[in-house]
Amino acid sequence: MIDFYKFGRKALFALDAEVAHEKTMALMDSLSNSGILGAIAGKSVRDPIELMGLTFPNRVGLAAGLDKNAAHIDALGKMGFGFIEVGTVTPLAQPGNPKPRMFRLVEHNALINRLGFNNLGVDHFISQVMRTRWQSDGHGLIGLNIGKNANTPIANAHEDYLICLRAVYPHAAYVAVNISSPNTQNLRRLQEADELNALLGLLKTEQSKLAKVHGRYVPMLIKIAPDLTIEQIDTIAGVLTRLKIDGVIATNTTLTRDAVQGHVNAQQTGGLSGAPVFELSNRVITYLRQQLPTGFPIIGVGGILSANDAVAKINAGADLVQIYTGLIYRGPALIGEAARAIALQSKVKASYE
Ligand SMILES: Cc1cc2nc3c(=O)[nH]c(=O)nc-3n(C[C@H](O)[C@H](O)[C@H](O)COP(=O)(O)O)c2cc1C
Repeated sequence: MIDFYKFGRKALFALDAEVAHEKTMALMDSLSNSGILGAIAGKSVRDPIELMGLTFPNRVGLAAGLDKNAAHIDALGKMGFGFIEVGTVTPLAQPGNPKPRMFRLVEHNALINRLGFNNLGVDHFISQVMRTRWQSDGHGLIGLNIGKNANTPIANAHEDYLICLRAVYPHAAYVAVNISSPNTQNLRRLQEADELNALLGLLKTEQSKLAKVHGRYVPMLIKIAPDLTIEQIDTIAGVLTRLKIDGVIATNTTLTRDAVQGHVNAQQTGGLSGAPVFELSNRVITYLRQQLPTGFPIIGVGGILSANDAVAKINAGADLVQIYTGLIYRGPALIGEAARAIALQSKVKASYE
């Protein structure tokens, strides 16, 4: 693809980060609807991989949070992703935190956000997913990422996840259970042993019921934080294994600020993403790969800014990767570059085996 983004980035970065996001999405939709996006986008990389009973056309996906309402799947699909994760969606619509709530740390290739699951609710979300053609036409797979409403007490969180799981199940290639956003009070507590066992036990039972009802088994993955101690990762790995959870997405944004000390936006409340989370998420992936049973699916996400970063995520132990902040700094060219580099490395590896 011609790298038009290089020219647009300066203008976009002059705007508030959330406004720039909305304008980019609107432009992308209109280019997509008029057929221009399809014409300028390059061919997407074909590097199919079987995982969790699904065939991913390539190993590079969109991370959750960029398309919270599943409003842009067909346009995003033209950018070369093998899979697109949309959401996080909650049972009811909610506005999220007051603006401004998204900040660039340009010198660090990073963002801080405290959006707080702003979304239009699960009914609207499903209606949007049903309108898209990308997955049904066989171009790629759609993951649906679920969460809880801010007003739901943490003790009742399971009710929100169950409502969302039932609603999204028939439409998803996989479901991602987000228990690691730092912007919903106490959400990360669901990663602790008792809470995690209880929640995932209920979701697993529901998944089995839904598989019978719909005649299709939809894999369920758990998305975790980078800010976990080794003991906490051990606990999580144990629960994922015991409950036969289908996969793990590592990781969400970080609450740490060590890497961005002194930046004018460093003390903004929220989750830090982009380059500063690269090593933190790799550490979690590497450790999980050692602790989990052989072949346990891991989606690696956090701080991929280049093709080399994407390959490093695979080498750390990920089967697939996802990108969010890298798209803001590098534009859509990063998707094809990453997918090509991963495909090339697996070919080279295969030729030595
Ligand atoms: C603005 C923004 C909003 C996000 N919203 C969500 C979300 O709703 N659900 C979720 O699971 N992750 C969300 N994330 C986390 C990303 O999916 C990803 O895990 C994280 O940003 C690390 O990847 P990156 O460094 O490539 O951005 C969000 C990230 C950003 C930057």
